[in-house]
Amino acid sequence: MKDPRLLRLFSYEDEVNNMKYKAEIGYVTLGLCATNSYFIRGIDEAGNPTDEVIFVDPADRGDLLYSKLAGKGLLVKAILLTHGHFDHIWGVDDLVKAAGGVPVYAPLAEERMLSNPDDNLSADYGRPCTVKVDSWLQDGEEIILCGHRIRCIHTPGHTEGSMCYYFEDADILFSGDTLFEESVGRTDFPTGSSSQLIRSIREKLLLLPDDTVVYPGHGDLTSIGHERRYNPFVC
Ligand SMILES: [Fe+2]
Repeated sequence: MKDPRLLRLFSYEDEVNNMKYKAEIGYVTLGLCATNSYFIRGIDEAGNPTDEVIFVDPADRGDLLYSKLAGKGLLVKAILLTHGHFDHIWGVDDLVKAAGGVPVYAPLAEERMLSNPDDNLSADYGRPCTVKVDSWLQDGEEIILCGHRIRCIHTPGHTEGSMCYYFEDADILFSGDTLFEESVGRTDFPTGSSSQLIRSIREKLLLLPDDTVVYPGHGDLTSIGHERRYNPFVC
C-alpha cells in the first residue's frame, strides 16, 4: 500500500492528519484470501470529515471491524459490496448486527451469487453464507452515502454482477476483483468471463481520469493511468 492517503485501520487515530486529502480511507487486509476491506470517512457540506464511514467489502470478522472502528469514534453507516464472493462478504452479517442494522448495497446482477452459498463459494470453504441486501444497484446509478456521491460502474467478468464504485469528488475507485495492480481478476469461477472482464476494464474503467487512485480487493493500490500504460491484460 503506497498511497499516503490510505490510513491503516489499527493506527487510524495516529494518522488522521489534515484536510489536504479529498477523502480519508482506511483498510484492513484479512481473511483466507487476504482481502482488502476498506472504509471511507464521510464528509459534511463544507467538505470536512465526519465520524460516519462507508464500509466496502467486509471480508471477515465484522464484529471485530465494528468494535475497532467504534473504538476510534467512527460509526459504520453503510456497507457497499463489489461482488458476492465469500472472501468479500463473510464479515457482512456480523458487521450489520454490530452496527444496529446498517443498510447493505450490492449489485443487482449479483443477486443469485449473494443468495447461493454454492455460487459464492462459501459452502466450499465450510462456512455457507448469504447476504440480505437492502438496496440493489445498477450500472450508471449514482448514490449519495455519508456525503459522497458514488457512481456505480457495472464491470462483469470476474463475476457476472461485479461492480466498481467511483467517488468522483475524491478521485478514487474501488475495483473489487476486477482490476488489480498490473493484473486482473480470475474468471474461472461461476459466472466468470475473461472476454467480458477485459471489455469491462477497457470500455469502462480506463475511461476514468489517469490520476484516479484504484483500491483493489487484493494487493496494492494503483491508478488508472498506471494500468493504462502497464497492465499487460488490457493495454
Ligand atoms: Fe472475487
